[in-house]
Amino acid sequence: MKTKRNTKLLLRMFHLFALVSCVSTSEDFNWTKNEKTSFYFGTFPTGFSWGVGSSAYQTEGAWNVDGKGVSIWDVFAHKKGKISSNETGDLSCEGYYKFKDDINLMKDMKLNHYRFSISWPRILPSGSKSEYINEKGIKYYDDLINMLLENRITPVITLYHWDLPQVLQEKYGGWQNISMVNYFNDFANLCFERFGNKVKYWITFNNPWSVAVEGYETGEHAPGLKLRGTGAYKTAHHIIKAHAKVWHTYDMKWRSKQKGLIGISLTADWGEPVDVSNQKDIEAAERYIQFYLGWFAAPVFNGDYPQVMKEYIGRKSGQQGLGASRLPVFLPQEKSYIKGTVDFLGLGHYTTRYVTQKNYPSGLGDSYFADRDLAELVDPRWPDPGSEWLYSVPWGFRRLLNFVKSQYGNPMIYVTENGVSEKMLCTDLCDDWRMQYFKDYINEMLKAIKAGVNVKGYTAWSLLDSFEWDEGFSERFGLYFVDFRNKNKPRYPKASVLYYKRIISSNGFPNQRELESWKRKATETCSSSNQLLAADPLIGHMEMVTEIVIPTVCTLCILLSAVFFLFLLRRCL
Ligand code: BGC
Repeated sequence: MKTKRNTKLLLRMFHLFALVSCVSTSEDFNWTKNEKTSFYFGTFPTGFSWGVGSSAYQTEGAWNVDGKGVSIWDVFAHKKGKISSNETGDLSCEGYYKFKDDINLMKDMKLNHYRFSISWPRILPSGSKSEYINEKGIKYYDDLINMLLENRITPVITLYHWDLPQVLQEKYGGWQNISMVNYFNDFANLCFERFGNKVKYWITFNNPWSVAVEGYETGEHAPGLKLRGTGAYKTAHHIIKAHAKVWHTYDMKWRSKQKGLIGISLTADWGEPVDVSNQKDIEAAERYIQFYLGWFAAPVFNGDYPQVMKEYIGRKSGQQGLGASRLPVFLPQEKSYIKGTVDFLGLGHYTTRYVTQKNYPSGLGDSYFADRDLAELVDPRWPDPGSEWLYSVPWGFRRLLNFVKSQYGNPMIYVTENGVSEKMLCTDLCDDWRMQYFKDYINEMLKAIKAGVNVKGYTAWSLLDSFEWDEGFSERFGLYFVDFRNKNKPRYPKASVLYYKRIISSNGFPNQRELESWKRKATETCSSSNQLLAADPLIGHMEMVTEIVIPTVCTLCILLSAVFFLFLLRRCL
């Protein structure tokens, strides 16, 4: 998903090259080109589930209240220089206190499901079940789940959205250590025990690629380790084992009683060969996907890492004089234990890259990125309204969905994340580009479904603007704008709220005229919301003024009374 700063420069350098080298796509994909005429009007299958997503650290705030333990993200964000403008998720959207308001927003959108995550240290402050269970944390999630169900919104729970208890990081080195498998299993087991009678959709891990690469290889994310060439592979190895163990726990202990489903949420970009007639580019694009999605998907579907990863990392490790591959190996019994541990695949997707072959000589130092022997390119014509890595390329989404279908035997898919950001300076609630992004990406998903891809639900990322990891609050993915400067953290609907709501109520795209009228109405509404938002700093200011004025007036009153009292005293004497 994220190709961060170190690759940004490279991407820019290749901009021009990509423009020249973009070759037209093959015949069967003609209608995926981003042209008006390629739009597909139609509806989604009955029962298709529409939702929005969030995660605990990004939205809850309340980082140190009601007995919550500290997570690796609390610690990382508090270190100077790690997050843009040194921001933290200490308060964020205050979702911990405002979840009832947020559910009302979801109700208004007529959502079918809400995807959120449980903060592990909020319910197990020291990470371990044997030490202390924080009942206040349990109660928070219980209330949230109950209120969702009362409003007929299905809870979809992620167990790990990156906020490992800090104690486990300090004591064992976090995911570098195999002992995390049992700790995570205990935590998951507790969640099944306490919430499983009401929750039917579980996701073990969110985007483990990011945990491995950004947490343990580049260090841009918590815990901030830079173990190049080995850290990411080891982390991923343990995460895959932990996922499999939790799937088996659910399967053996809880499934028959609770009758739920459990999967994993993998995030991946699509990689398109720069030149579809060049075999080297085709293979490089294949490697791009296999090192991204296949790294996790191949083990959970087929029992082992993609062949191409084993070959490339094995060969490079040999050239570096290492006795064994830097990619760990699954034992035969582990392979059969891990194979088939997904009831559904959660898929997160945001963007696409063009890919070409590029050799990285082993002398230059090892890294996950160098192991792939490829370069990533972008087409400068692709819209990129927000995050630098996020270009809007709707057709890539359909290709990724098709890839999952053909590669892993057409599994049941829930799209667990898809959306687009904007830079902080654009506080415009009329987010045309987001409406466009959702319209086109959701349309590509519809085409994929019509072609037989088994997608059961879609989750727009995200309900609210929130703490965007190392980017702090500078990038906003929300359907709702959150005014973080105001201590009440008010939410304002962007135009895309209304637009998404229309897609949901029509369960698809009826016709051109309707779509135009959705856009018109959404734009009218957001213009008036814009005025409200513009008035907000004034209100915020007025509150501040009150804080200054009231004490000042009081002081003046006291002084005046004192003077008056002295005056009376003098007259009496
Ligand atoms: C993460 C989200 C994040 C999004 C955009 C996803 O992979 O799961 O937490 O907000 O990427 O960066």
